Amino acid sequence: MTTSEPASTDPTTPATSESSDLGSTPQTAQSTAPSTTAKKAPKPGPQAGILNRPPENLLVAALTLTGSTPRDTVESLRTIVEDELTSVLAPNADPAIAPPETGELGYQEHHDRAHLTITVGFSATGYDKLGVAAEDRPADLITIPWAQLGDTPDVADSGDIVLQICADNAYITEHVLRRIEHTLAGQAQTVWAHTGAQRYSSRPGRTAKREGRAWIGFLDGTSNLQPGKDDGDRALTFVDPDATGTYPAIPASGQPSQYGPSNQPVFPADLRPFTGAEPAWTRNGSYLAARVSVTDLPTWDAQTLTDQEATIGRHKKTGISLDLDNDPAATADTPTAFATDQTNEQVAITAHIRRANPRGSADDLARRIFRRGYPLYEGGSPTLRRGLVFLAYGRTLSTQFEFIFRGWITNRDFPHPDAGVDRLRQFDTQVLAGGYYFVPPLDDERKAWTWHVPQPTSAAT
Ligand code: HEM
Repeated sequence: MTTSEPASTDPTTPATSESSDLGSTPQTAQSTAPSTTAKKAPKPGPQAGILNRPPENLLVAALTLTGSTPRDTVESLRTIVEDELTSVLAPNADPAIAPPETGELGYQEHHDRAHLTITVGFSATGYDKLGVAAEDRPADLITIPWAQLGDTPDVADSGDIVLQICADNAYITEHVLRRIEHTLAGQAQTVWAHTGAQRYSSRPGRTAKREGRAWIGFLDGTSNLQPGKDDGDRALTFVDPDATGTYPAIPASGQPSQYGPSNQPVFPADLRPFTGAEPAWTRNGSYLAARVSVTDLPTWDAQTLTDQEATIGRHKKTGISLDLDNDPAATADTPTAFATDQTNEQVAITAHIRRANPRGSADDLARRIFRRGYPLYEGGSPTLRRGLVFLAYGRTLSTQFEFIFRGWITNRDFPHPDAGVDRLRQFDTQVLAGGYYFVPPLDDERKAWTWHVPQPTSAAT
């Protein structure tokens, strides 16, 4: 199907630095200059769609491999992804058969992809179907434990593959999924798909990332890892098989702790430790926790400003932490006061920023995640569905997302018995779908479709 080299090296190439700030250069439309990358030696690296500036639109979809030759299906998917990332449309050759090209993008070569990235991840069932041996799999990958998370999603099935498709134009993202569904009919089936949108984009005159707000009206992203800018943050985002010995262990319940003199948190007894070793091929890969949920905005909007701010732990307009009221120089970036004094409860112990990142120890900081989600924005009845397409990348699931969610956010015995859960939970009312995935590294970071698929141990095809 693929007939030419990439039209441009730019949009096909994962950004190697965080380019999400206002002022960084948006990707340009396709150049027709011949590619020179083909001659260079392959260089492994992270997938596209993690480190670059998130474009305006998100389409995230989970697919199940339904055919009898799943490895072939995955290679067909790779070809489609390559074609989409190089603006190669399928020609309509034979009028006697259904057109391979669905046509909504027209028929011109080198169409503008609007900064399209396609990030591909595999679930535990995906690696099952691909026949990958246990010792060759990402060590921390399990099927998302919905019951342990306390969630009852509308669709519990996470599929075998997840696609995070981002572009500044919804026609571009739609075409990717449409083409996959059309071309792989009978071999792969979409089990769920959700859409998100955000205000800051790659367009001229765009809204700055710093001004990116959740539907609840608060700045979102004030405190986040910056894996493109900071080596320490990068190490928390991507797998390094040589670093697994440094991951934080499960803290003991009921022990005197850093959270205050009388405060002795109790953690769920079945929290999952990281065990095992990561295979060498997982380097520069990343685990993805996806959770799509609806926020009860009518109830949220009826809260007083004081209650809303207590729920998040920040001032709504400025993003400044509530415990910095006495610091006239404080900005949204100024470190919270509770970071250095856990007994300071001006940010309540049930506030979201405190439950999601209590900052009580070096181990706590090693649990931080790279959030790259989008506000959920899609049709519904009787009105729009608005919420959060939560997408978080990390070097593990167990020591990061899962611990944050189970050990802190939803644990009423943290930071001390009967403390209560994260106040934001009451507005997070309906979980639609989600999953745990491993987003494998690229064998050649200049070719965003070269995600690594380990060999099977069996006769799986
Ligand atoms: C359910 C809907 C949710 C909404 C509307 C939401 C919104 C927000 C907002 C407004 C902030 C403060 C801005 C910032 O510090 O960047 C924030 C911070 C954060 N959220 Fe959420 N969030 C949601 C769910 C979650 C979940 C499920 C998790 C993780 C399991 C999570 C993890 C975090 C983290 C780690 C921070 C940064 C805290 C810090 O370092 O100060 N959030 N979120």
